[in-house]
Amino acid sequence: MSSIAPRVILVTGANRGIGLAIIQALASHPQTTKDMKKGEEAIQELRSKGITSVVQPVTIDVTSDMSIRNAVNVVQEQHGQLDVLVNNAGYAVIPSASDFSDWRGLYAAVYDINVTSVALTMAHFLPLLRQSPHGGRVINVSSARGSTTLSSSGLLPSTVAIPYSVSKAALNLLTVEMSRDAANKDVEFQLVSPGHCKTALNNYRGVRDPLEGANVVVGLVTAEKAQYKNAGFSETKGASMDLVEIPW
Ligand SMILES: NC(=O)c1ccc[n+]([C@@H]2O[C@H](COP(=O)([O-])OP(=O)(O)OC[C@H]3O[C@@H](n4cnc5c(N)ncnc54)[C@H](OP(=O)(O)O)[C@@H]3O)[C@@H](O)[C@H]2O)c1
Repeated sequence: MSSIAPRVILVTGANRGIGLAIIQALASHPQTTKDMKKGEEAIQELRSKGITSVVQPVTIDVTSDMSIRNAVNVVQEQHGQLDVLVNNAGYAVIPSASDFSDWRGLYAAVYDINVTSVALTMAHFLPLLRQSPHGGRVINVSSARGSTTLSSSGLLPSTVAIPYSVSKAALNLLTVEMSRDAANKDVEFQLVSPGHCKTALNNYRGVRDPLEGANVVVGLVTAEKAQYKNAGFSETKGASMDLVEIPW
């Protein structure tokens, strides 16, 4: 992928699932992990698949401001800029329908990882994204479950993972508002849905291979700036790399 080779791309939550698939597809960019050992193991997995390009693990727990700041320092010292930030780290939980005693904590945990931590990761990395000569780009991994239109129309069946869907709808508006901030006028923001992929998030009940789910991120990373509208919400279908708009 020579057209993207010079770019510095950071993917959060990249030691497994869709994040690891994004790294495998992009193959030559920094990845992040909460746990350096898991990050090294993920890189070994890529090596065993014949991927030889430079993949650098960066420790980041997105729920810790200090951890985010440390990751910013690593990227600053080693690259001096960030071209693409992919906020992929995510969390889902199914609250009990009869015992509400842990609901407050469950909602807070889902919201913290899927919304608040994305806001803070963007805020901390924006100065480095603004240094990008390509114009920085933020790709937030959302879900079609965050589409009010798809849920209210009945096109998507109801869900038991309500905190997750609510958090992704919030992530969508967060991203739109970030794109409207005048201070971010040179940075592009995108929302993507990888589709229902077979990962730990859903106990491997998804139907798509994570690599296919990663296509939508790869499509946006490799797209020329302004090829797609800023703050769009996109997915890909089947094995195609063509981006399809998701209704809000
Ligand atoms: N799978 C699907 O069908 C599907 C559909 C739509 C959208 N998505 C979205 O796709 C993204 C990736 O999900 P996935 O399916 O690949 O799930 P996954 O296999 O459960 O992977 C989640 C990743 O997020 C990381 N993570 C969790 N908490 C973190 C934290 N506090 N700090 C840093 N990293 C953290 C995990 O790291 P650890 O291993 O260290 O916990 C892991 O690498 C999520 O945003 C999810 O909402 C998934």
